[in-house]
Amino acid sequence: MQYTHPIVIQGGMGISVSDWRLAKTVSQAGQLGVVSGTAINSVLARRLQDGDLDGSCRRALKSFPSQNIAQKILDTYFIEGGKSPQQPYKRPPMFSIDSPKALLQLTVAACFVEVWLAREGHDGVVGLNLLEKILLPNLACLYGGLLAGVDYVIMGAGIPREIPGVLDLLSENKKAHLKVSVTGASEEVLTYFDPQDIMEDTNLAPLKRPFFIPIVSSSTLAANLKKKSTGRVDGFIVEGPLAGGHNAPPRGPLKLNDKGEPIYGERDEVCLKEMVALDLPFWMAGNYATPEKLHEVRTLGAHGIQAGTLFALSNESGVKKELKEKTLHAIATQAAPPGGWIFTDPRSSPTGFPFKAVRIPGSISEESIYLARKRICDLGYLRHAYQKEDGSIGLRCPAEPQSDYVKKGGLHEDTVGRKCLCNALLADVGMGQIQAGGYEEASLLTAGDDLNNITRILKKGEMSYSAKDVVMYLLDLEPGPLQQPQKNLPQN
Ligand SMILES: Cc1cc2nc3c(=O)[nH]c(=O)nc-3n(C[C@H](O)[C@H](O)[C@H](O)COP(=O)(O)O)c2cc1C
Repeated sequence: MQYTHPIVIQGGMGISVSDWRLAKTVSQAGQLGVVSGTAINSVLARRLQDGDLDGSCRRALKSFPSQNIAQKILDTYFIEGGKSPQQPYKRPPMFSIDSPKALLQLTVAACFVEVWLAREGHDGVVGLNLLEKILLPNLACLYGGLLAGVDYVIMGAGIPREIPGVLDLLSENKKAHLKVSVTGASEEVLTYFDPQDIMEDTNLAPLKRPFFIPIVSSSTLAANLKKKSTGRVDGFIVEGPLAGGHNAPPRGPLKLNDKGEPIYGERDEVCLKEMVALDLPFWMAGNYATPEKLHEVRTLGAHGIQAGTLFALSNESGVKKELKEKTLHAIATQAAPPGGWIFTDPRSSPTGFPFKAVRIPGSISEESIYLARKRICDLGYLRHAYQKEDGSIGLRCPAEPQSDYVKKGGLHEDTVGRKCLCNALLADVGMGQIQAGGYEEASLLTAGDDLNNITRILKKGEMSYSAKDVVMYLLDLEPGPLQQPQKNLPQN
């Protein structure tokens, strides 16, 4: 029987917004649930320090192929009953070009846990989302996902040309590498991952090679990835500038509207005919999450849609309950603040990509809260590599203390308006750090323009909904019965 891809993809949402619970719910509803692999090593380390109260992480770790590594992780991070709320989280070391083995082992295990839990107890398909821009953990994350039998790998925020070949190698437990972009480097810089070395096992069984679906913002990029990637590309997600999270910058010179947001134009629109001509399935993302739009894009040749915002506010997402309730309540009962609920900030993200922020009180999207925060870079996922004068490689983040950034040869102007997304996004999912002096990291919720219409999913008198409600709502106009995607995926 021919394999049928799911019509709806629940987009990957970091950090831990699309956690295993959300992905599992969507997969059980017959569509593609995607876990986020972003900062997943910190997520596992913090869940264990919070006591892993429902036992899920420890249950998944029991199935990890190396019990030696699993035990080391538990010994390092697990706190029976959980740490006290005032106690700061112990942090794993930050990634580097040549990261310590224990960090790579933690990362493999963390991604394994997330995918394993999302796949537990049902036959649906599960994906793993990673960002090309956060490159250094990616090989370990991919390998952890493969070990847990992930069905799809979805990657955006950059041009993930090398990933298909990496998936081929890692599925055979062979050493893989990625090129690291290093400002000022005179030679090519590579980061390596050797499964046999990291797993301390020379007898590893072959793994399933998942589908690879890159996220693109133009048909030209899609064509380029299809032709020039290091291996098989299985489809595309075509994401426009109304999507939650990071957006691709507008083509051409950056111009801002009177609210200070990037202006997108005709050149940023994707021609569906050109996508159809590539002869690979594609899904539209960025304010497409209605049954009518899904139906329309399917008649124009898309396979389906990827949705994020509607799922991010659902009961099963990782966003902490108070933040979801506060956001839904504000939108359902109050007029939008001047300028709207969403601000596409061209400056906040250290990646340099525009990043959407929900304007709700108490978030670091409020300038006063952001300015009250003492700059600190202690997670470091968004640091960029640069070559030092002595030829060695350093890492710097435009959201770190400005004097540190400038000391590392960075430009002061690059630091202006940058926000520490690593800490803010962990705070969104209830794992905010307690910094020196007792300062608790504040959150910064991201969502797409679709947030303005979120109340359409709420049933009368209710202020919450399930991810399953979202799936049923989106598929309302599709002729049934919908085929459950088949589990026996094509192999290489
Ligand atoms: C809270 C949130 C976090 C997101 N994080 C990521 C991410 O880590 N990686 C990614 O590829 N896309 C991310 N996205 C984009 C979604 O995967 C999806 O493509 C997008 O939300 C679709 O548009 P919509 O917001 O109109 O539904 C995020 C979106 C939201 C709302």
